[in-house]
Amino acid sequence: MKVFITRRIPQEGMKILTEATGVCEVSQWDSDEPIPRSELLKGVQGAHGLLCLLSDKIDAEVLDAAGPNLKVISTMSVGFDHLALEEIKKRGIRVGYTPDVLTDATAELTVALLLATARRLPEGVEEVKKGGWSSWKPLWLCGYGLSGSTVGVIGLGRIGMAIAQRLLPFGVKRLLYTGRTAKAHGAEVNGEFVPLDELVAESDFIVVSCSLTPETQGLCDKAFFSKMKKTAVFINSSRGAVVNQEDLYEALSRGQIAAAGLDVTTPEPLPTSHPLLTLKNCVVLPHIGSATYSTRGVMSALTAQNLLGGLQGSDMPSELSF
Ligand code: NDP
Ligand code: DGY
Repeated sequence: MKVFITRRIPQEGMKILTEATGVCEVSQWDSDEPIPRSELLKGVQGAHGLLCLLSDKIDAEVLDAAGPNLKVISTMSVGFDHLALEEIKKRGIRVGYTPDVLTDATAELTVALLLATARRLPEGVEEVKKGGWSSWKPLWLCGYGLSGSTVGVIGLGRIGMAIAQRLLPFGVKRLLYTGRTAKAHGAEVNGEFVPLDELVAESDFIVVSCSLTPETQGLCDKAFFSKMKKTAVFINSSRGAVVNQEDLYEALSRGQIAAAGLDVTTPEPLPTSHPLLTLKNCVVLPHIGSATYSTRGVMSALTAQNLLGGLQGSDMPSELSF
């Protein structure tokens, strides 16, 4: 069966697929850079399996280009907002994804981003380099600490929970969370399930870790930021589209909120001329939540195993139900 891979992926995953000689024949966009749309539409033709990344928009056009052979789409990501699920379902195609294996790495990065943003690490590093460090100064580069604080987690799923677990030992006093339903596991982090407005108004740190859905798209907008404390720090490691970036820029530049740390933006990459990048109180990372060598290796292996399961009509280790 024909498999198309849309990018160079870690060797752990490639090894699994190349060794499955009796099962599939692999072709690949052999580059670290995203596949141009025209090449994707060409490469996927006649494929039985598609291994893709979160930067590949898999919509009706791609599915039509693939044609009726396509049995499985395996994405090397836990997020699946780049997949047109209704179209995929209509065609009876199975979907594999990579939950759990990247939870620790992403939670760790989110905590690092929160601390870097709240304690102004990039600014401090920059001051040292450019000679702005004249002396120890009582009022210089002060930020906000977690001890005694209230943290609000939007989306206490796998990653939200792992973030909460890592933040509690810093002395967090209250852990609020919101989502569609209260979670039994919320009790493990003394989490209080509250309405969004309450979380926004009472939190010193807001961490967004929900999935991107029509409901969460643009959730963090002008009204949201206007309800936050002036001293609060906003962190997003879910998807850029959960945030209205124009409204975030306004809130940050007018001092309506203290700071923001973003691992995800719209678009990605964020153009270097983007207004958010002019702000000292905004720390932007290039979507590196899951970027540890071992995590990416395990993600690619799981993606390959999902693909093989789908091709062979057997169990997939992580099949998305939708
Ligand atoms: P989960 O499915 O475990 O968690 C998603 C959470 O989103 C659930 O708790 C869900 O709560 C919540 N959610 C859904 N709708 C809403 C809503 N309307 N309001 C508030 N919360 C909502 O997924 P993961 O924790 O594994 O991953 C979460 C997301 O993180 C991924 O979808 C991906 O976009 C992003 N991600 C980013 C990475 C990075 O590199 N920065 C790395 C990995 C993931 P409920 O069940 O109540 O609906
Ligand atoms: C995902 O898996 O959804 C992340 O955004 C990248 O690991």
